[in-house]
Amino acid sequence: MYVVVIKAMVTDTSSLSGKRILLIIGGGIAAYKSLLLIRLLNGAGASVRCILTRAGAEFVTPLSVSALSGDKAYIDLFDLTDEHEMGHIELSRDADLLVVAPATADLMARMATGQANDLASTALLATDKPVLCAPAMNVRMWEHPASRRNMAALRQDGVLFVGPEEGDMACGEYGPGRLSEPEDILAAISSVFVRKTTPGALSGRHVLVTSGPTHEPIDPVRYIANRSSGKQGHAIAQAAADAGADVTLISGPVNLGDPKGVRVVHVETAGQMLEATEDALPADIAICAAAVADWRPVSATNSKIKKTAGTEVPELQLTENPDILKTLANHPTRRPQLVIGFAAETDDVLKHAQEKRLRKGADWLLANDVSEQSGVMGGDSNTIHLITGAGVDEWPLMSKQAVAERLVARLASALEDGTPKIDAAQ
Ligand code: C5P
Repeated sequence: MYVVVIKAMVTDTSSLSGKRILLIIGGGIAAYKSLLLIRLLNGAGASVRCILTRAGAEFVTPLSVSALSGDKAYIDLFDLTDEHEMGHIELSRDADLLVVAPATADLMARMATGQANDLASTALLATDKPVLCAPAMNVRMWEHPASRRNMAALRQDGVLFVGPEEGDMACGEYGPGRLSEPEDILAAISSVFVRKTTPGALSGRHVLVTSGPTHEPIDPVRYIANRSSGKQGHAIAQAAADAGADVTLISGPVNLGDPKGVRVVHVETAGQMLEATEDALPADIAICAAAVADWRPVSATNSKIKKTAGTEVPELQLTENPDILKTLANHPTRRPQLVIGFAAETDDVLKHAQEKRLRKGADWLLANDVSEQSGVMGGDSNTIHLITGAGVDEWPLMSKQAVAERLVARLASALEDGTPKIDAAQ
């Protein structure tokens, strides 16, 4: 099959026009790429103000930074002139987004522990704006448990990430740790500002969303489940409602509040989820974001299975659950105009997801990497490959909310085109 891959490089950067970026340049050999990033940001209509860490200033000169950004390069916390002109609080408050590129191991450690011992870390601690990190460091430093912990803590705090990439490193080693290319960092920055969907863009449309895991009972106290948090499905339901859609959310058991302005049906099992989904038809769009259990115990016992000394370990007999996405996509009479699925994969993400789209009969499939190192499961961000009949669109790492808004914007424009069936799977 011929697949067109649209690289992040061609991402629309119009959302950057008029945006103010505070770029924090850490001290690593990759700092030279930040100079190109300044140019790219300026070219996309954003203004850039730069903070150099002391080590950053060893790799790129304040003169180059200031010549490219058209502003002075800020370095010192205790520079009274700066405090008079533009203090560290104003520096971070005056920006729409803080970008740390390269984010070195040291800077990430200081961010993760809330230190404020230079201008860069102080601005990062003082900000109430989103922060995007582009890490770059030696592969062993990147893989060190301390860096893993810091990365996890920063993700937990809502910091967004782009990269690092895998490849040859300046130190002669090979592996993950290379700073993402400036074009990819630019794409990640612009995705933060993707315009919220126009209010009313989906008005008059009924959007059906499945979300969360399912629980398949073994007995009254035990069940089979999975790690899905429901964050992505719930964010989509919210974004669709914000765009004026009439939304029915069929939710498995999650620790999330119901999205506002959405009709929510709470279910436990895959069987109940299918029933609730079919009851909610007709719909214009169905988005199956739930992580439905593939199998369920053949029959759940009515009383708790006892663990009795000397008796054999009970055998669990499983049977296949109904496939909700496939059922909707192949519905003989009430197939939604657009049926969208997710594919959570741990390896060969694109290949498996493309096969899945065809096998299930979905129009679009959003594939994401849920391997342990991706931090997607239960986390707040996601890297999506949108697979349609026309090819693959690679989205940079973004928050689950931004994924939801981008998907809804895409749905609105697809439906606006009036194409009755947008990307029929074949
Ligand atoms: O087959 P797999 O679970 O990887 O497929 C993922 C996609 O299929 C998701 O969109 C999920 O919501 C949907 N699905 C479903 N019913 C199932 C299994 C998966 O709707 N029983």
